[in-house]
Amino acid sequence: MNEQKFIINYLQYDNIGQLDEADRILCQKAELALDTSYSPYSKFRVGTAVSLSDGEIFMGSNQENVAYPSGLCAERVALYSIGANRPDAVIRSIAITAQTDSFEINKPVTSCGGCLQVMAEFEQRQGSEIDILFYCLNGEILKVRGVQSLLPFAFVENRLSASF
Ligand code: THU
Repeated sequence: MNEQKFIINYLQYDNIGQLDEADRILCQKAELALDTSYSPYSKFRVGTAVSLSDGEIFMGSNQENVAYPSGLCAERVALYSIGANRPDAVIRSIAITAQTDSFEINKPVTSCGGCLQVMAEFEQRQGSEIDILFYCLNGEILKVRGVQSLLPFAFVENRLSASF
């Protein structure tokens, strides 16, 4: 028996002013995306912005449905939109933020496991790391380099896409 461990490195910033320009713009776009959230059930708005290697930015927000499981998280809305419209694009980074009138959000909201799994496959597919920025509107930002750091045991099975 061997005990193994993962170490996760991430960067912590106190406010958006500490980010470089590209990351700051991406966080601001994620904040703008909050306006398109359709979240009448949770009243929890999530906004995201994804930057591509050619400079294009895709935005997304959570889209809910009265049949609750039919809704989709902001991250997947944006990522699948890229998959459908720019299938060969290379994703550089993704910024995520959240807002609600129900309580104060004092810490960056992090992505759910389902979204991390989808990010992990985009990362694997393109063969380069995707940086993730979790942006709290009150200030703090966490930056993680590569989805693998957040989901080291992502489900991967290359034989499922092999041609038989
Ligand atoms: N949500 C996201 O958009 N992204 C996540 O990573 C976690 C949760 C949404 C789904 C739902 O519309 C609302 O937040 C409350 O769970």
